[in-house]
Amino acid sequence: MTAFVHRDQARDQARDQAAEQAVGRAEPRLEARAKVTGQARYADDHPLPGSAYAWPVRAAFARGRISTVDTTDALAVDGVVCVIWHGNAPRLEPGDDPDLLVLQSPEVWYYGQVIALVVATTLERAQEGADLVTVRTDAMAADTVLRADHPGLHEPEIVNAGLPGRVDTGDFDAGFAAAEVRVDATYRTPAEHHNPMEPHATTAFWERGQLTVFDATQASSSVRDTLAALFELPPQLVRVHNEHVGGGFGSKGAPRPNVVLAAMAARCAGRPVHLALGRSMLFTMGGYRTPTIQRIRLGADADGRLVALAHESVTQTSRLTEYTEQCTAVSRVHYPPANLTTSHRVVALDVPPPTWMRAPGECPGSFALESAIDELAVAGSWDPVQLRIDNDTARDAEGRPFSSRHLVECLRAGADRFGWAGRDPHPGSRREGRWLLGTGVAASSFPAITWPSTATARATADGHFEVAVNAADIGTGARTVMRQIAADALGVDEPSVQIRVGDSDIGFATIAGGSMGTSSWGWAVTKACRLLRERLGREHHGQCPPEGVAVVADTTADLAARGEYARHAFGAQFCAVRVDPATGEVRLDRMLGVFAAGRIINPTTAESQLAGAMTMGVSMALLEQSVLDARTGDFVTDDLASYHVAVNADIPRIDVTFLPEADPHLNPMGSKGIGELGIVGAAAAVANAVHHATGVRVRSLPITPAALL
Ligand code: MOS
Repeated sequence: MTAFVHRDQARDQARDQAAEQAVGRAEPRLEARAKVTGQARYADDHPLPGSAYAWPVRAAFARGRISTVDTTDALAVDGVVCVIWHGNAPRLEPGDDPDLLVLQSPEVWYYGQVIALVVATTLERAQEGADLVTVRTDAMAADTVLRADHPGLHEPEIVNAGLPGRVDTGDFDAGFAAAEVRVDATYRTPAEHHNPMEPHATTAFWERGQLTVFDATQASSSVRDTLAALFELPPQLVRVHNEHVGGGFGSKGAPRPNVVLAAMAARCAGRPVHLALGRSMLFTMGGYRTPTIQRIRLGADADGRLVALAHESVTQTSRLTEYTEQCTAVSRVHYPPANLTTSHRVVALDVPPPTWMRAPGECPGSFALESAIDELAVAGSWDPVQLRIDNDTARDAEGRPFSSRHLVECLRAGADRFGWAGRDPHPGSRREGRWLLGTGVAASSFPAITWPSTATARATADGHFEVAVNAADIGTGARTVMRQIAADALGVDEPSVQIRVGDSDIGFATIAGGSMGTSSWGWAVTKACRLLRERLGREHHGQCPPEGVAVVADTTADLAARGEYARHAFGAQFCAVRVDPATGEVRLDRMLGVFAAGRIINPTTAESQLAGAMTMGVSMALLEQSVLDARTGDFVTDDLASYHVAVNADIPRIDVTFLPEADPHLNPMGSKGIGELGIVGAAAAVANAVHHATGVRVRSLPITPAALL
């Protein structure tokens, strides 16, 4: 397991196997042509006869009450069908997420909250009507700024992903006091927004008591259940389509207010309604990553073995919903020493609800941990690759053995391929013209999560197979890899398999999130296909009867029967930057990620997932930052001109390498999640390279030119 396979070799090998096996073959996306020719329909691309258009009126203050809403002028606009507000909105049944109880009360919990919705025959008339709704308010002073000493901070027992808020082992204070080399540093990451290409959007209509929506969501099964509960309908009377989704990154992981508003508007207007949010609305209604303040203390012995680690995270949530980002999760996995303390504190502010974004927890947490490890390497004069290798572990902080772990192999293969050997560790030691050059490394990991799902497989008399799983293809290639998995499980050629995704009527399937899609859906697909094959053989001598044969599979019991392991994918990120000391400009030269993530189902789409996530990591390190106006609670950087994301010119070269990895403790495919792994550690690798180039340690993202001057 020490040899690494470059992606081109992996592709060649994959092509050689292509005749026998679909899994492992590098393939383009099945829907690629539909997308580039504009045939693929997204949530707002479903023209329906008699459609109306909705446009929100939003609160321009962060905390208080609405005293009056005057809709007279709005209703006088030609084409305005109705104006919905808390005085006339249909009642919703309260559920888990108070943010979805739209237009139910005069209470305002955050800037940008929807306080009225105008429905009209055209979008322009709806927007004109929205401008004419007069709202009187009683605004109160708002508390919008996260501070490490905020008196409202509390320590939840359970944080995001169901993890314990605190994990302590040994005696941190004693271990830290006895350490030879110590680091004590505080890292900050700003609020960040997902900014998927496709904004949150919904088309909704009611027909004979049934609700149908086309929604931009990563999880149509959960949207269906949520709408059914809110509108008090049996779930079978709600159908949610999401055949194509233009990115999500977590923002479309849970149902957002837009889908509830659209369904409500369609009921009130008595016709289909389109609601596509404007880009600026995503900054309040689409969720965001909480800002984080993370203190890390590391203690090592004279040989560079970690003896003590403290990781304390402070984040914010909204007063409406509680969400605690699990920043310290990585510190329980990467190199947990005998003496460890990891904890989370959170405070409810007058801000929009934060949510999952691109490796919630692991992503900001790894910026802190992997920067601190680099600081320890500098303090102890240890090589940062070797320091990580020397602190490898076979168990996580809670004592579970890893189902497989090839972090050391990733670090070694990466160092080799990147050309790490012979690096002069002294900051500022390499120059090229006006540029200072630097290289940095960081470790990456992400949990290999699998959740129950169902799938159906059907054989038809003409020798074809129809496989359906309610996956959400959010640009990842989900339907493509599901067909590969199905073809192998059925033992047939891929073209004889038709795959259907993106429709809640298919049956329950878990979210395209938490990097769990392929493992979860793929397991259900494998099970359904194997059962179908068995049944065809046993009952029909391998011949499909004229009426066809169908089976449904559910993986709930299979998942419950798995052993107790810590299941994670691992990787190593290497980065080379150049910095202009006169201007503080940082340019990425190249980046390499080496990952061990179980069996790779499709090297083409997998590489794209990793390279995309690494790009987001560079973007996080150097550019992304949502600026909140503390007085109003408004995110003022609410468009792509002011909220900067990395573009092609920022990313000259990213290489992705997968190490082969066989893990029998995962699922029948042997796959680990790859959606979020690539962003974990990426920002730290950049920051560590910037330190190597300049000698300046930036502990607060993004690394702006000002931070280096
Ligand atoms: Mo991901 S942040 O779980 O969509």
